[in-house]
Formats: sequence, structure tokens, C-alpha cells
Amino acid sequence: MSAVIKDGVTNAAGVEVPPLDAFWMPYTNNRAFKSREDIASRMIAKADGVYYTTASGARIIDAMATLWCVNAGHCRPKIVEAIRAQAGELDFASNFSVGNPLAFRAADAVARLAPAGIGHVFFTNSGSEAVDTALKIALGYHRLNGQASRQRFIGREKGYHGVNLAGVAVGGVPANRKAFGNLIAVDHMPHTQDLARNRHCRGLPADGADIAERLERLVALHDASNIAAVIVEPVSGAGGVLVPPRGYLQRLREICTRHGILLIFDEVITGFGRLGTPFASQFFDVRPDLITFAKGVTSATVPMGGVLVSDHVYEAFMNGSGPVVELFHGYTYSGHPLASSAALATLATYAEEDLFGNAARLSQAFEDGIHDFVDMPHVIDTRNLGLIGAVELAPRDGAPGARALEVHNRAWERGVFVRPIGDNIAFCPPLMIDKTQLEQVFGVVREVLSTVP
Ligand SMILES: Cc1ncc(COP(=O)(O)O)c(C=O)c1O
Repeated sequence: MSAVIKDGVTNAAGVEVPPLDAFWMPYTNNRAFKSREDIASRMIAKADGVYYTTASGARIIDAMATLWCVNAGHCRPKIVEAIRAQAGELDFASNFSVGNPLAFRAADAVARLAPAGIGHVFFTNSGSEAVDTALKIALGYHRLNGQASRQRFIGREKGYHGVNLAGVAVGGVPANRKAFGNLIAVDHMPHTQDLARNRHCRGLPADGADIAERLERLVALHDASNIAAVIVEPVSGAGGVLVPPRGYLQRLREICTRHGILLIFDEVITGFGRLGTPFASQFFDVRPDLITFAKGVTSATVPMGGVLVSDHVYEAFMNGSGPVVELFHGYTYSGHPLASSAALATLATYAEEDLFGNAARLSQAFEDGIHDFVDMPHVIDTRNLGLIGAVELAPRDGAPGARALEVHNRAWERGVFVRPIGDNIAFCPPLMIDKTQLEQVFGVVREVLSTVP
């Protein structure tokens, strides 16, 4: 019986649960979830720091920053207080031709973290909206420059760019694309995983920058005059945590520059300290034209996303001969006061607690923990960078994904949350995790893996 669920109903197993029928859960096997006897152990009732407390009272280490997003940790006092105070001060004002000071301050704070020359922010409410916004900005930019034929986008196999129609089209996760992915003109580069050359690589693979040359072939095929932008995650996350080979992103930058194609880094996961720098762009020392962000900007406390826009793109809109409203685009909640105040408090928390520095300092222990799996049963690859990593398992015959799912389930029962992605086990802890907690995470997953058939 749950101690935490209030106003619940009793399910067939005699367990107190909230009414389950109305909520269509995202990315979830609804029927299986709603009929679980142990459902209270899968309902998260509270959180603090790196821990969840389930409705059944268990403490679980959130070793995934939930969905790669709770970078500052859960329920951090400064952020909580800022949101509370803001809700009583200015709950909402739009930014359509009027403004609220917080949105300006939040944009300024985000831009100050960005690489030099990327000084403007368009706010959205999610990563998916950030991706659509970036793609629209790219189209608008080329049109302003008299190159309206640049309409095609290039994504990458295994790329994840959210779930809106454009993001799914440029994305490269087959299950996401299958039913919805064909509505805009896209092509895809190959992903960068190369087990023959880079299996069990620590950090950046030394070999494989040549994979970027495939972009040249797509340019030759479609002609640069038809290509608006290339979009990639610097480190792909939801596609299975793929770390780019050394020099690969630099090569993409060179090819895009040579052909007048905009380069978009989707930093929805890598932004806000995941690699120990504010953005992956700084880690790799590669400057894209647009950076999409979300998640860590508010440490997931209030939904917020956005696009960081480089000065030359922004100025094309501000100085161009386009419409009076420079970009016919915006969300009711772009720059929402609650999200803006959460962002300001989150960025202050990152700075005051040096959480990006903590990620950098812990990255060696994290790498060692990931690579301790190398000789374990079923493990076929291990990958890491900063505080993101994955252990890839051989799939069970006829049941792809089942083994990693079982590891996830058993680890949860032992108080550790890691995410199964196909046959990968992904790790992406809050940046405030400490070494002891990390050891606990890896220890539990190792124990579980040694017993999983
Ligand atoms: C790289 C990347 N882009 C976009 C998104 C979509 O973000 P959201 O779920 O906030 O729409 C995600 C979500 O995981 C992501 O990882």
C-alpha cells in the first residue's frame, strides 16, 4: 500500500494507485505499465539531489538525470525558491510585442555561456520545438540571402532530434521515423559507430573522422544550392550514446563552410555541462551556426528550450529586407517568466557549485566505471565522454532489447535507475553526483549484469 499516493483508487492487485485510464503516457507501453502489480514502485513521488523516492517508499539513484536533463540534481533549493517567488510575482506575460525582463535576462545568461559569436537566443518550450525552430531559422536565413532553393536538411543515422515532424524527419532512429518521417526533404549521413576500429574506446575514438566525407557525397548528390543545413548531436544520446571520432566534427564544419550550408549542433543533451564545458561546441572547439538546447537550461524544473543563434545569422534577419516581423515564428510561452526565472537560478547554481567543473573532474572515474564492464558477460562495446556513457550488450536471439531491459528492471529493484536504449545501457547522472554514488551505480549494474542470462 502506498504511503504517498493521495486520492487514489485500488487496482486489481489491491494496490492504491491514482486513476490510471485517462493519462496516455508518452513513449510507454501503456497497457503493460497500467496493469503492473508493482506499479507503486514505478511511480515517482518525490526527489532530492540524485535520488527519487517512489510511491512505495524506495530510494533510487537517478543515474540518468531522468531523461538526460536534471543536470543540477532534483529539487535544488535556489531553483525551487526562484520558481516559487516568481509564480507569485509575475505568473505569465507573453513576449509578443511586449516583454518581460526575465526573458531578456535569461537569454543574456544563456548567451554568455555560449561560444563567442553565438550571442542570440530564441526561446521555445522543449528540445523538439528548438529543433523545428532552428530548421525554420535556417530556411529563413537562406531565403533572405536570395537562396530559397536551399530547402533540404541533412541529418544522421541514429540521430535523435525530438518528436515534432521536422525533428523526426532529420532524426535517424528507425522506429521514430517509420510512420512519420517523410514529410520534409532530408537525407542522412552514416552514424559514427565503428566497432571494427573503435570498440571499447575510452573517450573520443582516434579513427573515423573520414566518415564525415560522406557529407561531401550528399552535397554532390543534391547540390549545395539545395541544402539548407546539417544537424547533428555532437555526441548522440538517445540513439545509443555515440561519441564522435576525433576530428569528425571539425571536418563537418569545414565541409559546411565550404558549401554555404548552416551547421546546427543539437545540444539538448550535451548543453549545460554534460562534457564539463557549458556546451559541447567548446569541448570540441567547433563553432556551429545554431545550437539547440533545452533540458539542462532549467535542470528540467520548468519546460524550456531554445536556439542559440550566431551573430551573422541573427544580423541577416535584423538587417535584411525581410518582413517587419523578422521571423514569423514564436510560441505562446517563448520566454515564459517561470521558465526564465528557473533558468536564471539553474545557471546560478551551476556557477556557484561549479557543477560543470564537477562533471569534468568526475569524468575519469566515470570512464573507469564504464570500462570496468569491458570483460563482463554479454558486453560488446563501452563508450563514454564527460558524464555520458553506455555499455552495449549483445542482443538475445530473436529478442532485441530484452537483455538491456532486464538489466534496467533489476537495477531499478536494487535502487539504481539506468536507461535501456535498444541493447545499450545508458548512464547520464546529474552533474552533482559524487564518486561514492557513482561507484554505487556501477556496482549495482555490474552485479545485475553478472546474473542476467
Ligand atoms: C538531442 C535531442 N534533441 C531534441 C530532443 C527533444 O527534446 P524534448 O523531448 O524536450 O522535445 C531530445 C530529447 O531527448 C534530444 O536528446
